[in-house]
Amino acid sequence: MSESIASYVLLSLPSKAAPESAPTTDINEWLEQNLLNGKSQINKFQIPSFKIGTLDQLVLQSEELSKIDEQLAGSVVKIVEVLSSLYDYNYPLINSIKKVDDKFVTDFAEHFQWKNAKFKLTDPLSKLIDLISNEAFQLDTDVRNAFTNYNTAKSNLTAAERKQSGDLSVKSLHDVVKASDFVLGSDHLQTVLVAVPKNLQKEFLNTYESLVQFVVPRSAKIITDDKEYYLYGVTLFKKYVQEFLHALRERKYVPRDFVYSEELLQELKEEHDIAAKNENRLKNDLIRLSRAAYSDITSNWFHLKAIRIFVESVLRYGLPPDFNSTIIKLPTSKSLEKAKQELFQEFGYLGGNAFSVDKKGKVKKDSSLNEYASLVDTEYEPFVIYPVEIK
Ligand SMILES: *[C@@H]1O[C@H](CO)[C@@H](O)[C@H](O)[C@H]1NC(C)=O
Ligand SMILES: *[C@@H]1O[C@H](CO)[C@@H](O)[C@H](O)[C@H]1NC(C)=O
Repeated sequence: MSESIASYVLLSLPSKAAPESAPTTDINEWLEQNLLNGKSQINKFQIPSFKIGTLDQLVLQSEELSKIDEQLAGSVVKIVEVLSSLYDYNYPLINSIKKVDDKFVTDFAEHFQWKNAKFKLTDPLSKLIDLISNEAFQLDTDVRNAFTNYNTAKSNLTAAERKQSGDLSVKSLHDVVKASDFVLGSDHLQTVLVAVPKNLQKEFLNTYESLVQFVVPRSAKIITDDKEYYLYGVTLFKKYVQEFLHALRERKYVPRDFVYSEELLQELKEEHDIAAKNENRLKNDLIRLSRAAYSDITSNWFHLKAIRIFVESVLRYGLPPDFNSTIIKLPTSKSLEKAKQELFQEFGYLGGNAFSVDKKGKVKKDSSLNEYASLVDTEYEPFVIYPVEIK
């Protein structure tokens, strides 16, 4: 699995909030200079104003949004897995194609803009949530199906290649044997081909004549060999062929089902060409589809996050909406806990009585949470904050 390429925190605070230790400082200025010793990068995360319904609807939407948020994060991870396998786990290359609307995903995240033409702000929130999530789910399904198809084509090609270049126990024998290797045109006799592992050759020669009745004595002839196997032809009475094949298998020899035919040789070559073309076509389709899906699903995911921040901010900070949101780029994914602690230290007071900070800067919860807040989040935090890992 690739490392995540960027770690962010989405933060929303009431517009009048100020850091506790510096009440007259502008929030973004404070974040820029003080958070993680000034090592994080701060950008505005612009959220439009949405048409909201009742408070009860908002509470329900808050739950729904949390689930969809997680699902879309999972979809993005899945697509990155697909891309990784398509690009042979060449992570620098894979990371370079992680684009959203033709921008690098980090640029997109840091300068997110609501797509008003696609997701109209005149639509109610519930409709926007449906549009955003349904489109993303459909793409997710499309990518999964295309991936399954491509994998089938890939196995088909592997199988066709094995027929051409595998060892003597699997490869096609059409271009290995000649008509003269067979007793042809006999009513009673038939030549059977068998791949014998090299270490079992002696044992084979000592026993094959007596595996079943009516094996022609001394009929075993080496036709060819490779690293692992000798290919033998053995002639016996047709009547005992099935029994003979069975006995061979039991002794770890590999009988080869084979009917001599020029036509089959041609068919086999065509099968390989078709399998190769199919694999190639489905691979290119899948590359196109998953790159487009990466862009669209990530974009929808951020639109959904914008809604989520809006809904949570309204539930916590009240109406009319009056909050500012920020996307904070952390220096590494490991700085998340420290960043949270520093933010809790400065803005924990927003949780009212509900929060106080212990000696280590960890937030302690008490029982006097406000009514809606406790409904919306079991891991309630004193303000709206969402970590975002970009994979
Ligand atoms: C794989 O091979 C099977 C059997 O030959 C064929 O029916 C199927 O269409 C092939 N699938 C793909 C995706 O090429
Ligand atoms: C903060 O939000 C308020 C209300 O939405 C808005 O008027 C103001 O311009 C925002 N401030 C910044 C710095 O974005």
